[in-house]
Amino acid sequence: MGRFDGKVVIVTGSSSGIGQATAIMYAKEGAHVTITGRNEERLEATKEKMVEHGASADHVLVVIGNVQEEECAQRLVNETIAKWNRIDILVNNAGVTVKPDVDPDSLETFDYIFSINLRGFRPQGFFGLISSSSELSSSQSSCFLISSPAKGTSFPPGFTKTSIFTRHRPHEDEGAVLQEFEDNYISQIVPMNRMATSEEIGESILFLTSEKASYITGTTLVVDGGFCVLTQDTGRF
Ligand SMILES: NC(=O)c1ccc[n+]([C@@H]2O[C@H](COP(=O)([O-])OP(=O)(O)OC[C@H]3O[C@@H](n4cnc5c(N)ncnc54)[C@H](OP(=O)(O)O)[C@@H]3O)[C@@H](O)[C@H]2O)c1
Repeated sequence: MGRFDGKVVIVTGSSSGIGQATAIMYAKEGAHVTITGRNEERLEATKEKMVEHGASADHVLVVIGNVQEEECAQRLVNETIAKWNRIDILVNNAGVTVKPDVDPDSLETFDYIFSINLRGFRPQGFFGLISSSSELSSSQSSCFLISSPAKGTSFPPGFTKTSIFTRHRPHEDEGAVLQEFEDNYISQIVPMNRMATSEEIGESILFLTSEKASYITGTTLVVDGGFCVLTQDTGRF
């Protein structure tokens, strides 16, 4: 028996990093999972990994889409409902930190980040979870209801070893860039002296959306190796 047997989960941004690891973990726990992003090749790689970890290929739905486009969220919902007739959990994870080849401090970058991280799938926060529940408004004109009880939990992860730090530097060795970042920066500002793995963040996501978190709702769970505590004390960052 898996923890999520028969549950239907959408994980946005599952072609990479935290979303990919989380989709695989849900699949291992018996869920039916819709995976989505813009990069078809990387989504197919996610699907392959899910199958390698024991998921039936029929329990994985791939939807290609750009969350900046308003129709994307609605299509994601429609295709998931068409296949499995329900949605139990939304992991609203797609996000970026920079716009490639654009000044990171520019208004263009600011608008780009907001168009993906905040507007992509409403309602949402920086990194939102809606589990077993709630009212999902997926476009200006449409909304639908998933069974109660309502639960909306936001989940800002700490520094996590993913491609988010190297997407704008495609020709550099990702492992080396992340190691240098960890050694020279993270070790100074994170009490646990290291970055998280995607799987560590995924574990927290699975917990928050599981029956074990049955009395947790409308809150923010910080999983950051103590980063917030240190910055509050020292005023750093
Ligand atoms: N890693 C960290 O340290 C960290 C810290 C705090 C918060 N976060 C947040 O955690 C989430 C996951 O980040 P990550 O570290 O796993 O990054 P990642 O490896 O770069 O993954 C980002 C995912 O978002 C998808 N995505 C980006 N823009 C999209 C768009 N316009 N439409 C659809 N999908 C899009 C990407 O898919 P495609 O490329 O296929 O479109 C990819 O699957 C993000 O929201 C990020 O802001 C990460």
